[in-house]
Order: sequence, then C-alpha cells, then structure tokens
Amino acid sequence: MGNVVILGSQWGDEGKGKVVDLFSERFDIVARYQGGHNAGHTVFIGDKKFVLKLVPSGILRPGKKAVIGNGLVLDARALLEEIDALEAAGVAVRQNLSISDRAHVLFPAHRMMEKMSEARPGRVSIGTTSRGIGPCYEDKIARRGIRIAGLLDRDFFRAQYDSVMQEKVTIAKALGIYEELDLAAIREQYEAFAERIRPMVCDTALLLADAMRAGKTVLFEGAQGTMLDIDHGTYPFVTSSSASAGGACTGTGVPPTRIHGVIGVAKAYITRVGGGPFPTEALDGAGERIRQRGKEFGAVTGRPRRCGWFDAPLLRYTAAINGFDSLVVTKLDVLDEFDQIPVCVGYRLDGREIAGVPATVEQIARLEPLYECLPGWGCSTFGMVSYEDLPQRAKAYLAFLENRTGVEVGCVSTGPERGQTIVRRGSRFEQLVG
Ligand code: GDP
Ligand code: IMO
Ligand code: MG
Repeated sequence: MGNVVILGSQWGDEGKGKVVDLFSERFDIVARYQGGHNAGHTVFIGDKKFVLKLVPSGILRPGKKAVIGNGLVLDARALLEEIDALEAAGVAVRQNLSISDRAHVLFPAHRMMEKMSEARPGRVSIGTTSRGIGPCYEDKIARRGIRIAGLLDRDFFRAQYDSVMQEKVTIAKALGIYEELDLAAIREQYEAFAERIRPMVCDTALLLADAMRAGKTVLFEGAQGTMLDIDHGTYPFVTSSSASAGGACTGTGVPPTRIHGVIGVAKAYITRVGGGPFPTEALDGAGERIRQRGKEFGAVTGRPRRCGWFDAPLLRYTAAINGFDSLVVTKLDVLDEFDQIPVCVGYRLDGREIAGVPATVEQIARLEPLYECLPGWGCSTFGMVSYEDLPQRAKAYLAFLENRTGVEVGCVSTGPERGQTIVRRGSRFEQLVG
C-alpha cells in the first residue's frame, strides 16, 4: 500500500467526503491540497452528520493525523469555527491537525472583492460560493498574499495587512462595490485567531516527508472536481485552484514520485452547482427527479444542484488528466427508480463527432451529446454491500461505464453511510486502499 490521491472526476460533490472518511481508516495521514471553505464534504456516521469544509475528512477517525497543505486558502474564522464545532461533537481535532505555514490567509475583504466579478454589470457571473476564494488566490498569484507564517509574525502581518487591505478599499470604492469594513478591528481579530492556530502550524511538506520516510501512508483528499480545476476545467466557470491530481503535489510539497495511485470519484449520474456549460444536463422532469432522490442541494450554499446523465467522454477526459487507476461510482441507489438511464457516449460538434472536451465554453455549450439508453433495474440497491447481490442490470450499467470510460469501477457506493459500500474483489482499487 502506498500514498493515494482521491479526487472528484466531475464538477464536485461526487461524494469524496464519504469515500475519504471510509478509506482513511487504512492510511496514517489524510492531507487536503487545495481549495478552501468553498468545499462541503458530507460524512454520515450513524445518525450524526458532519459537513467538513477545511478540515480533511480523515479527522473523524480517532488517532489519524490530518494535514492542511500549502495549496489551501484559509479563512481563519471559518477554520476555527469548524474546529470548535467538531470538538463540541467529540472529535479530537487540535492534537491531530497540522496546518501548513505556507497556506494563504483569506480575509473578509476577499469576499468584498468577489463582487467585482460576480455582481458588476458586463461581467459574466460564475455563480461562485461567495466565500472570497478567487480573490484570495489572486493575491497569492500576484505575490501580495499573506501566508499563515506571515499571520504569525505580528510586525510583518500589521504592515502587510494594512497595505494590502488599503489597496482593496481603494479599488472597491472606485468600482462601487465597497462595503463598510472595520479593517483595524478585523486585523485584531486575526491576530487573536493567529494565536489559536499557532500550535497547529508547521512546515507540513517536511512533516509529510518525514512521515513517509518512516513508512507512514498518506491519503490526499481533493476538493471540488477536475472540471472545476483552474487549468483543466470549463474555464472560466471553474474554481481558482488545481483540483486535479497534479495539485496534490504542488499543494502539499509531496513529489510525484511518492504518489502511488489516483482514484476518481464519480456519481452514477452528474451534477453541477453554479454557472457554466453542462452537456448532459437534464432540463426535463428527470433532472428534478434526480435532484429530489439524490437530495442534490449544495452542502455549503444550499443551492439546488443542476442534475444530468453520466458523461463518459467527460470522464475519459478527466481520467486522462488524472491518470485514474480506479473509479468509485457513488449514488447508484439514486437511479433505482428510473426505467431508462441515458449515458452520454460521445459528443458531436458542428455535425462532426469529436474526441476530447473542447477548450472554450462557447464550444462546450454547443456540444450535442450522443446517448445510449440503458434499462433501469427497477429495484432497490440502497445499502447493498456485495457486488454479486446487485441486480443484473445495475451490474450491466456499471460494466457499461467501465467500458466507455476505460477505467475500472473498483468501488460502488449505495448510500451515504460508511457501510453502504461495495469494494470489488481483485480490483486495482482493493490493491490501493485495501
Ligand atoms: P463531496 O463534496 O464530494 O464530499 O460530496 P457532498 O458531500 O457535497 O455531496 C454528496 C452527497 O451525497 C452527501 O450528502 C452524501 O451524504 C451523499 N452520498 C454519498 N454517497 C452516497 C450514496 O452512495 N448514495 C446516496 N443516496 N447518497 C450518497
Ligand atoms: P466540493 O469539494 C461543487 C463551484 C461553485 C462555482 C465555482 C467557483 O464540495 O466538491 P468558488 O467559490 O470556488 O470560486 O466557485 O465552483 N464550486 C463547487 N461546486 N462542489 C464544490 O466543492 C465546489 N466548490 C466550488 O459553485 O460554480
Ligand atoms: Mg460537496
């Protein structure tokens, strides 16, 4: 067993939280590598529901270590609130969580700046989570961001904070998006947050390197999904970080040579929150049925998720980007009551069948999905734990997905709880996490 990345293969919300929580038992450390509190990873343990935003899902396993890598943007208030809520629910967080000194700090002014792209006339709204994620990553790339190490250095922090925030106020006023912010009071709050965070902060790249040298294993937890990746997704309708497998290296400081497997999580259908093209979106009653059966409402914003059919060419694309060794297909049970299940097997653009996913959203929006319809299985798969017990047609559906994506389906999820999962015997998946 080695170090494995588990990430979303579609537009997020594939069920990564459940999968990471379940399989984190087999690893020593779970590390998040990108994103921020735009993520919402839902985990059910019995009747307890946890929605993790910044803290890696592995934290729910007693004794496991969790790492927040350098690739994240951290709203210190959101992080501390999440830690407090987890601890109030009996989860030991502080002694098990390490936070990179190189992660970037997200401030309330970043949320204000998000209105520049989301709410101004003439700009195409992305439909973000309004958490300030994009503007914080903008500061990182523009080399004016404040990292956790900077937050902990009081003199540096004061000077840098005042200069960066003053700049934002000037821009916000000029653009008419300014909202009253007591910058000095916020600075003091963050200085207080810094002291609470300080004991958890370290060079997490070094921590991971030492741990791996000592034979410990790491599970890398992706947030968002490959189609929301800043480079490989449906740009500009993407998030601002590297959600794909490569991000696990840049976002933690772990070299590619230390990663032994990559697992993609895919819903048995597909969803998307926010704007942007979605070739297999079901705009008819079927989309609504999926939404109701799958409870497809955002874990962070509560927005209804757009729903549609499994998109095999999209999956082939994300498999190529990530090098998936195996797929986890989640929410199979949601399709239990459909008589017919369309699967997109190809795209036509301007009358010609094309390979790959086009680079422009204008072209993606014009794609004509080619469907094959598979018969539904007409009975419940909810909670099933054995592949052999699945109805024949559900097995045929999964085999079809394998065949059309070129990736094995090594694991199937049949319900939100840990136990409601099937691991295929003899699969690459079993080798990697079993
Ligand atoms: P993530 O962001 O990828 O972790 O996914 P979310 O937590 O945002 O959304 C997935 C939702 O589906 C959560 O409410 C999970 O509890 C739920 N879920 C995960 N796997 C299954 C499954 O196999 N069946 C059903 N019915 N629900 C599932
Ligand atoms: P998890 O980890 C689904 C979407 C937003 C918007 C776009 C940019 O739970 O799968 P942002 O606030 O990141 O700048 O928004 O990305 N988005 C997600 N959609 N799941 C997520 O996370 C998402 N995080 C961001 O809806 O379209
Ligand atoms: Mg989610």
